[in-house]
Amino acid sequence: MSSASNTYNYDKFGAFEKQHEQERLNRQAALAHQYDLPFIKSAGISDNHTILDLGCGPGHIAYMFATEFPKTHVHAIDSSSELLNVATNHYSAPNLFFKQASVYDIPYDDHSFDIVYCRLVFQHLSSLGDAIQEIYRVLKPGGKVCIVEIDDSLQIFSPIIPSLEQCRSVIKDGVHHGGNRYVGREIPPLLLASLFQDINIHTPSISTVNTDTKLLFDIALSFIPDMASNPDGITAEVIWKDIHRHQDAFFGLIVLLCMQATKPY
Ligand SMILES: C[S@@+](CC[C@H](N)C(=O)[O-])C[C@H]1O[C@@H](n2cnc3c(N)ncnc32)[C@H](O)[C@@H]1O
Repeated sequence: MSSASNTYNYDKFGAFEKQHEQERLNRQAALAHQYDLPFIKSAGISDNHTILDLGCGPGHIAYMFATEFPKTHVHAIDSSSELLNVATNHYSAPNLFFKQASVYDIPYDDHSFDIVYCRLVFQHLSSLGDAIQEIYRVLKPGGKVCIVEIDDSLQIFSPIIPSLEQCRSVIKDGVHHGGNRYVGREIPPLLLASLFQDINIHTPSISTVNTDTKLLFDIALSFIPDMASNPDGITAEVIWKDIHRHQDAFFGLIVLLCMQATKPY
């Protein structure tokens, strides 16, 4: 078992944080059909494939894959026993299997999966290289890894709203649960160093033109309750009030990094 850790431990959140985080993850689920389905299709998913969803959280992505592709086997792991309880209470399908495990120690044999999918998890990991090596190990030769992540340099918010900018700079400095919000740029070189080939990066964007502003902020600001403990006391409520003041002119855009790579034969 690797000693590598992560900055996100749902099971240790307080009751308020848990409720907030589950609501946030549920809102993020709304993105799945629009972004994750085409992304996994582009990896060449087909009948009899075995898929692993790493860091599945409350399970909506794994469930979507299992129901959209009923002839595949979808395995989903997460380190949080409580989020896995949420997942198993909400989602079941004959081809869907949840298990508690770490991305650093994936409880499957070498060469088990055709596709490994991992959405918005790497930003919480302290040892990206260990995770990528584990993914490489469990992929079949010719198998594909699909990683969805963000990099906060690829965001636009206009006009400048001081409370929002201050909040983003707290996140930039690494808040307690927030992890590395600039992780996107670190992944492609690590995929290359781990001998993955045919690395593709698609960069769809989400903006206030086509997405609910609240959802955009769920992704942009990650774990908002952390803001309550920042030294200047900027809360999500303060930011929301400021944004509403500029509602008509406000524009936000976030780029998603959808990275795909193949394990060679
Ligand atoms: C932001 S959530 C994303 C959940 C899901 N992938 C989604 O897009 O809705 C991050 C997830 O990664 C899980 N996680 C963090 N570190 C992990 C680790 N070392 N091993 C397994 N899961 C981990 C967390 O428990 C959490 O469910």
